[in-house]
Amino acid sequence: MTETDKKLLAEAKRVRDFAYCPYSKFAVGAAVLGASGEIYGGCNVENAAYSVTNCAERTAIYNAVSAGEEDILALAVVTESSPPATPCGACRQVVAEFRIPRILIANLAGEVKEMTLSELLPDAFSGEDTMG
Ligand code: THU
Repeated sequence: MTETDKKLLAEAKRVRDFAYCPYSKFAVGAAVLGASGEIYGGCNVENAAYSVTNCAERTAIYNAVSAGEEDILALAVVTESSPPATPCGACRQVVAEFRIPRILIANLAGEVKEMTLSELLPDAFSGEDTMG
């Protein structure tokens, strides 16, 4: 694991503490590495109307996009689950949209697994499918 990977995981763990999850009580932290070298964190933000909930992965990705990052090199996700929890289907589609090649899933006990985009979402629907 590189020093940058360690920083990415540390940021995901740090922002997990900010998770707003009064309904599920399942806190998730995520962080992405932009091509600029900057790291952006995000946590899950729930809502009384459950479907409006934003997952940690999407919060982190949208945070990076909103800061002007055009390429995202890696995503880290930290939960308390063992084995480490993988991103939900909606987040996988967003990971595919931004072609994030490396996904690190980890937990508070220190277990870490690396996955690729194609492992996470094989044969992903993409913008190319809409262009005839
Ligand atoms: N959650 C995430 O933040 N990321 C995922 O990939 C799976 C689920 C959140 C959504 C909700 O706030 C809580 O975890 C329980 O589903």
